[in-house]
Amino acid sequence: MDNLTIRVIALIGLLYLPFAVADYKTKKPTSNTSQIKEHVQPALDPQSGLVKAEGFNLVLAHCSACHSPTLITQNAMSRERWLETIRWMQETQKLWPLGEAEPLILDYLSTWYGPKKSARRAPLPTHLLPAH
Ligand code: HEC
Repeated sequence: MDNLTIRVIALIGLLYLPFAVADYKTKKPTSNTSQIKEHVQPALDPQSGLVKAEGFNLVLAHCSACHSPTLITQNAMSRERWLETIRWMQETQKLWPLGEAEPLILDYLSTWYGPKKSARRAPLPTHLLPAH
């Protein structure tokens, strides 16, 4: 490499330096606030309004075929009352046997749509909250 080539390369490097610094400065720190929020308040499936937690897929598959899942979200029942509702639908509304999914569905329903422990209303579905 002759002297001129080295100087040209050095000059190109020097010219690029401010851009490299600017690029570094504008890189935003990765945010994890959405993950933190999910721990505080369970995420809701925007389509059904159901809480996205263990059992969600089973409930969506078995419980949204005949009616809107809002029948679930607007209810608050104990495990026993949920089971009675399921038995009633099986006896009178042609709901199929839930088999091994039944205890998991009951866990889900009584956990997220159990009897209200306080007078506070259930949290609004996230799609109804103002943008933040
Ligand atoms: C085979 C059809 C069918 C399936 C599947 C079904 N339901 Fe229903 N369910 C009905 C019918 C019909 C009604 C009465 C609807 C009405 O009154 O408008 C009903 C009513 C309800 C009600 C309201 C009961 C009341 O006392 O008013 C709840 C809660 C409910 N279903 C939950 C569920 C859950 C949880 C599942 C899943 C395990 C489920 N449904 C699956 C047919 C079904």
